Order: sequence, then structure tokens, then C-alpha cells
Amino acid sequence: MINNRKTLISPSILSADFARLGEEVRAVDAAGADMIHIDVMDGHFVPNITIGPDVLAALKPHSQKPFDVHLMISPVDQYIDAFIDAGADILTIHPEAGPHFHRTIQAIKKRGIKAGVVLNPGTPADIVDYVMDMVDMILVMSVNPGFGGQSFIPNQLDKISRLRDKIEATGRDIILEVDGGVNALTAPQCIAAGANALVAGSAVFKGAGNYAENIAVLRGAQQRSTA
Ligand code: DX5
Ligand code: ZN
Repeated sequence: MINNRKTLISPSILSADFARLGEEVRAVDAAGADMIHIDVMDGHFVPNITIGPDVLAALKPHSQKPFDVHLMISPVDQYIDAFIDAGADILTIHPEAGPHFHRTIQAIKKRGIKAGVVLNPGTPADIVDYVMDMVDMILVMSVNPGFGGQSFIPNQLDKISRLRDKIEATGRDIILEVDGGVNALTAPQCIAAGANALVAGSAVFKGAGNYAENIAVLRGAQQRSTA
């Protein structure tokens, strides 16, 4: 499949220097990030603990770009308002994170921000079917959530293609994002399968000072510098 969509890049600050988070957010913003991806983990839904609403609020003044907040917490419902109040522009939730997935999406939309669904590698594409009229983003996990620096699971490319077809069938402008193991090799595969947004942690934050080049490579725009 060939597509001409602009690929949005959402650097995951999970791979940033946590002692200098504000500075790192400013750096990826200046380097061309389209969104800032914030991985929220609770040590229960996933085996790692990261960032809460207070850290999100502290980072918010450091970038005007949309904060793409990936909630890996369960139960999730009682924390929705805190993350929206802290500055989330897009909240993505896993269907497995609560008993009433549709209601959780409704609650996010009611607050006037964008809502997204995140699919684990073992979660089928069809789980989005009855929320397609509400969601603004579908996020395909190409690793099992919990840690940065894992290897891309290739069979998720088929899921990306199926989801692209579902999105086209709605006629709605739903972002199709991929998260996990996205690098210079796998990014073009995701884009060819129909993704129009890529999360990348280790591939963006590697090599201090090279963030702009790292982002351009993922977006496939590296040829611009030689044009
Ligand atoms: C994993 C997170 C990812 C992670 C990606 O649970 O959701 O956002 O930071 O890291 P890389 O790009 O290193 O695979
Ligand atoms: Zn993530």
C-alpha cells in the first residue's frame, strides 16, 4: 500500500533522561516532534512504574505540542480526570484496563479531549468495532507494554493494515499510531501498512544532540537534507 499521509512522530519520553525531563521535552519539540508521548505505568497493569499526573503537569509548560498520554493503568476510570486536568490532549486506554471500555471512552470525550484505544499484541483488531464513531486514535502496540527498547513484533503489521481498512471505511480522521520497537528499519514497514503516527523512545533519544536527525529518519524525510 502506498500512502501520502504525513507521518506524525511522537517521541516517548520513557527513554529520555528522567533527571532532565523538561529539557528533554523542549529538545524533542525543537527537533520536530509532532506530539509528546507519555507512558503512564502502574506496576499492576504492566510490570513497571513511571509517571503520574503531577509530572505531566510539570512538563506541560515545556511544549505546546499535543501530549499523547498512554495509560497503562488498571483500574483506569478514577484517574481520567486527573490526567486531563494535568494537560493530556489525547488519552489512550487499553480495553483490558476496566470493565466498561465504551463508557471510559465516553468519559474522556465528555471532557472535550481526544480519546484513543490501545491494542496489545494479543488483542484483536475487531475490539475497536463498536467505538469507531468515538475514537480519535487507535494505537497498535508492536511490543508488550511495560518497557522501552524491546523488539518489534512483525505480525502486528497485518493488524495495522486491517485497522487502516476499518478507519477508511468510517471516513473519519482517526490517527493510526504504532508503539514499540519503531526504528529506521520498522518505521517504513508501519507506514506501508497504513500507520500515520509513530511512537519512538530509544530510536529518538539515542545519541545526545541527534534528535532532529533521528526524528527525520523515522518520518522518512531524511532525503530533504540532501535535496
Ligand atoms: C512501552 C511503551 C512505549 C516505549 C517505546 O510500553 O508504551 O511507548 O516507550 O519504546 P521503544 O521505542 O524504545 O520501543
Ligand atoms: Zn507508549
